[in-house]
Amino acid sequence: MGNQPVRVAILGTGRISDLHAIEYKQNPKGKIVALCDQNVKQAQSQAEAWGVDDPIISDDYREILARPDVDLVEILLPHHLHLQAALDAIAAGKMVSLQKPMCMNMEEADILVEAAESYDRPFKIFENFIFHPPVLKAKELVDAGAIGDPISIRIKSNPGKSK
Ligand SMILES: NC(=O)c1ccc[n+]([C@@H]2O[C@H](COP(=O)([O-])OP(=O)(O)OC[C@H]3O[C@@H](n4cnc5c(N)ncnc54)[C@H](O)[C@@H]3O)[C@@H](O)[C@H]2O)c1
Repeated sequence: MGNQPVRVAILGTGRISDLHAIEYKQNPKGKIVALCDQNVKQAQSQAEAWGVDDPIISDDYREILARPDVDLVEILLPHHLHLQAALDAIAAGKMVSLQKPMCMNMEEADILVEAAESYDRPFKIFENFIFHPPVLKAKELVDAGAIGDPISIRIKSNPGKSK
């Protein structure tokens, strides 16, 4: 791979994908080259919004996994697809970043842990987005003593769409 950026495919271009794209847009070590969503129009409009040149677009993630010009996949699909997509990505030899929750239940988790432990390429689970600006703002306010000493925190969010 040398000094070339890691070529990234975004599998699932829904709500959370914008937050993943932010890092790739600012980090020269990675480059989004492909987007996959069953809603192809959405994948296309995300590619445009992120300024991806000449994007590979597909509604079938297996098509993306078969491509030699994709190094890493960000699996941002709904929960019930996580296990199969992750196993398919491992079988395809890609580096894998998988959104939480890793899968649907303990049986699936055991299968995935075993597959990841015997895999010789990077595999990570992307846990909660603790650097999300509203969370950082809440922390700043708590640290500044805005509400005294918290004894517990309950967060209610409304994940509405802006488009
Ligand atoms: N870490 C965090 O803080 C965080 C926050 C939000 C979401 N997530 C996780 O990320 C994942 C995606 O969440 P989201 O909010 O972006 O969901 P979303 O519903 O907005 O996006 C999912 C996308 O997957 C597409 N899709 C569904 N089935 C598909 C298929 N078979 N092939 C191709 N595309 C398909 C949908 O069209 C949709 O665009 C979920 O597992 C969620 O738990 C994590």
